[in-house]
Amino acid sequence: MSPFAGRKCLVTGGLGFIGSNLAHALVQAGASVTIVDALIRTHGGDHYNIADIAEAVHVNLSDLRDEATLRHLVRGQEFVFHLAGQVSHGDSMRDPELDLGTNCVSTINLVEACRHEAKDAVLVYASTRQVYGIAKRLPVDEDHPTVPIDVNGINKLAAEYYHLLYHRTYDLRSVVLRLTNTYGPRQQIRNTAQGFIGIFLYRALKGLPIDVFGTGEQRRDFHHVDDVVAAMMQAAVTQACYGRVLNLGGTKPWSLNDVLGILQQHCRFEFRHVPFPADRKIIDIGDYVGDWSRFHELTGWRPRTTLPEGLAQTIAFFRQHAEHYLR
Ligand SMILES: NC(=O)c1ccc[n+]([C@@H]2O[C@H](COP(=O)([O-])OP(=O)(O)OC[C@H]3O[C@@H](n4cnc5c(N)ncnc54)[C@H](O)[C@@H]3O)[C@@H](O)[C@H]2O)c1
Repeated sequence: MSPFAGRKCLVTGGLGFIGSNLAHALVQAGASVTIVDALIRTHGGDHYNIADIAEAVHVNLSDLRDEATLRHLVRGQEFVFHLAGQVSHGDSMRDPELDLGTNCVSTINLVEACRHEAKDAVLVYASTRQVYGIAKRLPVDEDHPTVPIDVNGINKLAAEYYHLLYHRTYDLRSVVLRLTNTYGPRQQIRNTAQGFIGIFLYRALKGLPIDVFGTGEQRRDFHHVDDVVAAMMQAAVTQACYGRVLNLGGTKPWSLNDVLGILQQHCRFEFRHVPFPADRKIIDIGDYVGDWSRFHELTGWRPRTTLPEGLAQTIAFFRQHAEHYLR
């Protein structure tokens, strides 16, 4: 029987990409799931993401920046998965205050609410490898210096520290996972500020030409959303993870050109290499490969989905739901 069967789980940002996939997995595991989401414009929240489990979850449209609502929402929750936040690095530079609110203010409100109303809950936070900034060595382990190069990285790092502080000071059972480039079904692919994998997927599926910044030889370790969801659920039930910051990662690194090559096996589109726009170059981290061995040692987790398999499955999903996601 799943450790989540009959357990009360709150998913912040649960109408978004990763949160909605997690909500599906928790419902399947028999959990009692509440979603809180503010459907912030430009973010990936969408009621359609949970259309097939709408009857099985409770949705609360509230903003985590409003502390008063949160206290009531966390009361009685046993697991809190914190995915509400702003993902876009570019948008964090264009609107730093929104990023501060959605990533930091939301998080301090959440840990405070848990401290008062859900002291025994386990809190799992989706952070990002962006906190490391430009890698000094590869693969990057958790001891690598954290020198963020954009506003988003700074706010996510601060949000990590709130979780760690509340663990140390108030015994809150929090875990911070540092995600890398995530892709998969229900990802917001229409918004051109949300990262290159979404842009590539959208344009490839529409048969539109793709501009690749730089040589395209930059390497990243992508992970499929199902692997991220499995990691979050495993972290939640592994006591040894509480109070820790742990990397996730993919099965192996791939260049952007490799990604385009895989997409071309499924979709007809052209691509060309163009110089980096100045506003992108300044926040580009270059090559990144994460070392997730620590998390593996604690939980046995490893990424299962290879990029070719994951992209094929993702493309099939978006083709099946084209009327909604490819409008
Ligand atoms: N997608 C990735 O590649 C990736 C990589 C690293 C880390 N992450 C982290 O994972 C989390 C989820 O990312 P995602 O890709 O699912 O993003 P998403 O934009 O699809 O989902 C985020 C959701 O959070 C909601 N939200 C934001 N601020 C809120 C607030 N104050 N109150 C209530 N709801 C709020 C949005 O409306 C949206 O539905 C983010 O915190 C992000 O930093 C994502």
